[in-house]
Amino acid sequence: MSVLTRRHLLRRATLSASAVPAGPLSTSTAAADVADAPLAGRDADSEADDERRTAPETQLGLRFPDGFGWGAATSAYQIEGAAKDDGRGESVWDTFSHTPGRVRGGDTGDIAADHYHRYVEDLDLMKDLGLRTYRFSISWPRIQADGTGAPNQRGLDFYRRLVDGLNDRGIAPMATLFHWDLPQSLQDVGGWESRDVAYRFADYAEAIFEALGASVPVWLTINEPKTVVQNGYLQGHHAPGLREPDAAYLVAHHLQLAHGLAVRALRATGSDSRIGPALNLHPCYPADDTAPGALEATRLYDGYENRLYLDSIFKGAYPADVLADLGPESRMVRGVRDGDLAIISSPVDLLAVQYYTPIYVTPDGGTVRRWPTSEAGWQQIFPDGMYDILTRVTRDYGDVPLTVTENGLPTPDRLDGDGTVDDVGRIAFLREHLAAAHRAISDGVPLESYHVWSLMDNFEWNEGYEQRWGLIYIDFPTQRRVPKRSAHWYRRVIADNTV
Ligand code: FCB
Repeated sequence: MSVLTRRHLLRRATLSASAVPAGPLSTSTAAADVADAPLAGRDADSEADDERRTAPETQLGLRFPDGFGWGAATSAYQIEGAAKDDGRGESVWDTFSHTPGRVRGGDTGDIAADHYHRYVEDLDLMKDLGLRTYRFSISWPRIQADGTGAPNQRGLDFYRRLVDGLNDRGIAPMATLFHWDLPQSLQDVGGWESRDVAYRFADYAEAIFEALGASVPVWLTINEPKTVVQNGYLQGHHAPGLREPDAAYLVAHHLQLAHGLAVRALRATGSDSRIGPALNLHPCYPADDTAPGALEATRLYDGYENRLYLDSIFKGAYPADVLADLGPESRMVRGVRDGDLAIISSPVDLLAVQYYTPIYVTPDGGTVRRWPTSEAGWQQIFPDGMYDILTRVTRDYGDVPLTVTENGLPTPDRLDGDGTVDDVGRIAFLREHLAAAHRAISDGVPLESYHVWSLMDNFEWNEGYEQRWGLIYIDFPTQRRVPKRSAHWYRRVIADNTV
């Protein structure tokens, strides 16, 4: 394994220890700064005028195409709770979160936002926001407690009620089949290191399509395979909590095989619904493009971050530079069988892009920070990266329709005495990223919808409940829901189709 690959393994660690110190949220909305600045010697009326003119709610006048899909996203383990209800089995995240020291504060998803019991209230909140599309995930261990066999009817019934509730309210369901909660029983027989698990996933997908297929217009297969690879098998701070580089890329292959098999399973049902992968893509830039070796290092980094998942699906081949870097004896390269790439590259109907952060690569394959980070130390705030990644995907992979299925920011939200949550930083962040998405659309990118991560505060994996990513505040002790200032802003964006 090359130096670059070893560097790559340390990516997250390097990011959080790199040169540029984190500052306050930077947005081109000087607006937010101006609104906060003291205005000595001015009267209250002109201060209020300034506030109105410069508030981050002020529209930029960017109108989106008619019918644009305004949405929000969640995932099963992060919001549902009800860990033992109605025959649900255990997932790797139950195991991981119940292992002392794995999750901040010892938090678990046992209760989370209790969405399993409160989904009707949540549906009404979505309706009130005016959402046109809602992306959620289906919990595999609710459908097959141990990952195989006949589906659990009570689990299917929950998603039937959810999907019907969405359709009744005019909100298009977008369902992800797998958002990391692998049944623990399948982990016990090797998890994604086992090729067989990809075939178990196809069986699970088939059961879901049979039960819900016609009511869900858009399916997503696997959420962020790269995060399972990097966080679950390289860094070990996500389930299953391993640090095994050689296993990691075999896992990458099997996750993609599972994706392709699920695409084929949907086609086999004759369904008209659309299906695609959900990839977190990171625009990679040289930290200093004049340094010798900078471009080569950035290109390989991009191979591991983006092309490993895009080329296989859209070009039917893994990127040669990444395969060469992994080496012919790696478990991944040895694990790819004849016909696998044909399965993986089964035609998809759309690509779901999740954008959070850019990466700046040094000539030795390390990374540095260029922009202020959010409360999530790995997230540099760089709205132009949204434009760059959307236009790049269209340039390099053709006209496949795109949806942004995650984009968002954690902010230090608190419920004020008057019952409001003033998350002005989130509004500024979303507005700037939507402006970048709008620019990409104007330049010809076929972007059809956008989903804020997240609809509501939730269990943020190894960070537990500390980071709040939602448009809706959850007071976890009481489970009270409070739409934040950003939710009120988003409602207006949707109503006006304009940012
Ligand atoms: C993404 C995950 C999502 C959430 C956000 C913040 O990587 O898909 O579940 O954790 O990050």
